[in-house]
Amino acid sequence: MSFPEGFLWGAATAAHQVEGGNVNSDFWALENQPGSMFVEPSGDACDHYRLYRQDIALLSVLGLNAYRFSIEWARVEPAPGRYSQSALAHYAEVLRACRDQGITPMVTLHHFSNPRWLTELGGWENEDTPDRFAAYCGTVMREIGPMIPYACTINEANIGEIIRRLIGSGEGRDLHREAVVGLADDRAKMGAGTEATPARQRPPRGIFLFTFSDEGLDIIRRAHAQARDAIRQASPATKVGITLALQDVQAQPGGENAADEIWAGQFTDFLPAMEGDDFIGVQNYSRVVVGPSGEIAAADTGGELTQMGYEFYPQALEAVLRRAAAAGLPLFVTENGIATGDDTRRTEFIRQALGGVERAVVDGTDVRGYFYWSALDNFEWMLGYRPTFGLVAVDRATQRRTIKDSARFLGGIAGRNALA
Ligand code: BGC
Repeated sequence: MSFPEGFLWGAATAAHQVEGGNVNSDFWALENQPGSMFVEPSGDACDHYRLYRQDIALLSVLGLNAYRFSIEWARVEPAPGRYSQSALAHYAEVLRACRDQGITPMVTLHHFSNPRWLTELGGWENEDTPDRFAAYCGTVMREIGPMIPYACTINEANIGEIIRRLIGSGEGRDLHREAVVGLADDRAKMGAGTEATPARQRPPRGIFLFTFSDEGLDIIRRAHAQARDAIRQASPATKVGITLALQDVQAQPGGENAADEIWAGQFTDFLPAMEGDDFIGVQNYSRVVVGPSGEIAAADTGGELTQMGYEFYPQALEAVLRRAAAAGLPLFVTENGIATGDDTRRTEFIRQALGGVERAVVDGTDVRGYFYWSALDNFEWMLGYRPTFGLVAVDRATQRRTIKDSARFLGGIAGRNALA
């Protein structure tokens, strides 16, 4: 296969989904609320906070040369302006483990979960959040930046736009914050001896994260730009980018305008904020088909569906890479993967997706790495541990890891190409 020299071959995780015990985060509060929309709480997750060394060693044994993981803001800054030296030292150790195993780290500074206090203050609707986020990023990078060659500021900064499209705006707005603030109110009332409204008597709330308003999306874009500057100042050698969820938007006759609008919302609208970035992190799982009366549900495409209800469509990755190249920045595939109980379908998905990456590269698209989502079967947010995206299975009772054949398949390609 013809991949450029130095191509990063890796797998990705996110702190809240694998570390376990992320007690100061808003997601922890939401998961443990009675009547929660989460099918189960994250709990100990994959205990990766303790087992990171063995997990990173596994990636290296498989033949991969890179690992994308996230630093948890709620751990590093558990109260506003109060930083945990212990958490920073932990992440320094994770970076050392990567170095010891010959693994290039790519670090995400915000992957969906927020410190609970941030959400109580209004989260990504609060005008002060870009300053707070940039201050946190600057602190992390001053401490451990020299060990971080690649930093992603915000994971899927456009996810609010995508969710808003899927569920319609209005209703979704602020639900996440309300749920967390509701919890804080309850705690305060209990402290004051007055009766709290039991959470289960309220309608189930708490929906992914971020914002569903235009102002909020601006705040997120500003937060990215400010964080990029803070990262550069603290650690000039670190390459900085954002990651975007990019669906392959395909128009049927009559659906062209709607399809263009969807692409603009998920990509073009973010271009000004990305000016001056070093790369774009492309995250793709499937396609969306738009007909004359709007989006066609995955179930109606006639294709095979994954555990997430997405269409099995690995060809989507090549298409979005070619489209995203229009920004003129180097690209990394920071996430691409499939939730399935049939590992042979995962191998097939990876095989086809990488074939597409290779074709795009041969045609001159500047793609510099591929991170499969995910290294481990992990906590899939509201769906809990049911969907299995991992290259490696995790028995959560024993925390035993089992390598799947798809991991060996990806590692084999990586090994051959890294040596080439
Ligand atoms: C997110 C991951 C998530 C994955 C699969 C991406 O949107 O970055 O956190 O687990 O998709 O749904």
